[in-house]
Amino acid sequence: MAYAGGVDVGSTQTKAVIINEDLQIVGRALVDTGSNVVVAAQTAFDIALRDGNIHEEEEGVEFVVGTGYGRYKVTFGDSQTTEISCHGRGAVHMFPGTRTVVDMGGQDTKAIKVTPSGEILDFVMNDKCAAGTGRFLGAAASALGVPLGELGPVALRSTRPTKISTTCTVFADGEILSLIGKGKKVEDVLLGVHHSVVSRALSLMRRVGIDKEVTFTGGVANNIGMVTVLNEELGFDCNVSSDSHFMGALGAALFAMDRIKAGRESHGLAEVK
Ligand SMILES: Nc1ncnc2c1ncn2[C@@H]1O[C@H](COP(=O)(O)OP(=O)(O)OP(=O)(O)O)[C@@H](O)[C@H]1O
Ligand SMILES: [Mg+2]
Repeated sequence: MAYAGGVDVGSTQTKAVIINEDLQIVGRALVDTGSNVVVAAQTAFDIALRDGNIHEEEEGVEFVVGTGYGRYKVTFGDSQTTEISCHGRGAVHMFPGTRTVVDMGGQDTKAIKVTPSGEILDFVMNDKCAAGTGRFLGAAASALGVPLGELGPVALRSTRPTKISTTCTVFADGEILSLIGKGKKVEDVLLGVHHSVVSRALSLMRRVGIDKEVTFTGGVANNIGMVTVLNEELGFDCNVSSDSHFMGALGAALFAMDRIKAGRESHGLAEVK
């Protein structure tokens, strides 16, 4: 049994996934990228190996693809692929009906249009501004002292979202604190923040065209508040999975497995496992 690896070195978090020849995830890892990108990539990969109980010297991971903004820092990687391709590939693999992907990460939000086989037809991403990304949610979380994992649950307690007018992450905490100072409830402000981030993501998605099914990837898909508000605004439910955060790394691992299988075919070993 051969294994393939994908390492998605994002601006905020690094994800590693190892798959087997049946294309099942056997190991995964998530670490903060931090300032040493090379170390983050190696650490995530090592943890994923341990998670999968894979011993490099015996079975080994035959091919590793790096993706994400730090993909060239995956020093042990065999090749690199863009995160757009990897999120598209991962999303179609996990949800074969996917036609539109929205990847919301720490610094970027990308809307991607894919073919039924997972090829990229079109994509757009936020241009420098982090207002429609996890960073905006993170700024709200730290301004309000709410842990990231609680942002969604707290926001969903609200029935009256406060309108957030700030369009810049740099000024978001100022506006948020001034709204709280005026007596607005934390949950109302937070739901307003979620609506503001979703409306920016939707405007990117409309630029590529929103076709069902929509698959939500990236770390922000862990936020139940974002999923709920996105579904409300779309008028239908998007696909999310507990592995949404790992979708780019999964796509990279699938490209790596393609390379392993193609290598065997070229050596006439297609049937050998
Ligand atoms: N459990 C969680 N609950 C809520 N939000 C979360 C959770 N885990 C991660 N996030 C959000 O996801 C973001 C990181 O997502 P991801 O790992 O996809 O980003 P990235 O790939 O590093 O960034 P980019 O793609 O922009 O370079 C964090 O900034 C945070 O906002
Ligand atoms: Mg990313």
